[in-house]
Amino acid sequence: MELDEAETAALLAALELQIAWGADEALDEAPQDRTLPRAAAPAAAAPAAPRPTPPRPAITAPAAAFTPAATRAGELAAGADSIEGLRAALAALNHPLRETAGNLVLSDGVPDSGLVLIGEAPGADEDRQGKPFVGVSGQLLDRMLASIGIERARNAYLTNILPWRPPGNRTPTDAEMSLFTPFVLRHLALVRPHHIVLLGGTAAKALLRRNEGITRLRGRWHSLEVPGLGPVPTLATLHPAYLLRQPAGKRDAWTDLRLLRRALDTKNEIET
Ligand code: URA
Repeated sequence: MELDEAETAALLAALELQIAWGADEALDEAPQDRTLPRAAAPAAAAPAAPRPTPPRPAITAPAAAFTPAATRAGELAAGADSIEGLRAALAALNHPLRETAGNLVLSDGVPDSGLVLIGEAPGADEDRQGKPFVGVSGQLLDRMLASIGIERARNAYLTNILPWRPPGNRTPTDAEMSLFTPFVLRHLALVRPHHIVLLGGTAAKALLRRNEGITRLRGRWHSLEVPGLGPVPTLATLHPAYLLRQPAGKRDAWTDLRLLRRALDTKNEIET
């Protein structure tokens, strides 16, 4: 589409204003082409012919794409037999979140460490770097884990319920949580943890399928049935982003970390 000089200047001025407001990231569910109404309206008052919406990217998936989304998600997840296979399966899902996010954020750390921590969804820093928990809440998480001798580069593995950042960091919807849960369960079956930690209410709700909030679910071990692996002891605790807003919660988080440390030590005692 050709824009004349005045239209280009007007669009640039609008963009500069957005940046000055701090609106420097995607908030809508899908990219919007703001040039369309402007370009479709001729200078005269004559009614403009509606401009066709640009085609969305082709769905590259095979015929199964026409089955309901959840079935398709389940099929794609079940077919993944490695972490890279899981990444490819997520990409094949062609979810709308993929269009507003910068990167797919799958995991970080040591897959066979035996300990998996699961958060909610990538934030802006994670989206930019393609790794979970690299922003301020991730830095707090690293310090919390270090206090009980855990380091992501040595003895932990991190992932999230959602692999793409929701626009504007909104909370994942119930539909998104249930769509991505089969991928998380498959991920767990592939890395075979002996302990799982759920960070925050979203991860706890998605995987424990309980209605209570995180303050009721935290501080004790649950049993998570992972298809293909069996029941795995699973601890729910407060999300580090919540602790940044509510530092008083760190006391409870510390209680939970001690529970985790004790469980890991007990396992090691039994095994050695
Ligand atoms: N919050 C999360 O839940 N996950 C991340 O990866 C980062 C922030």
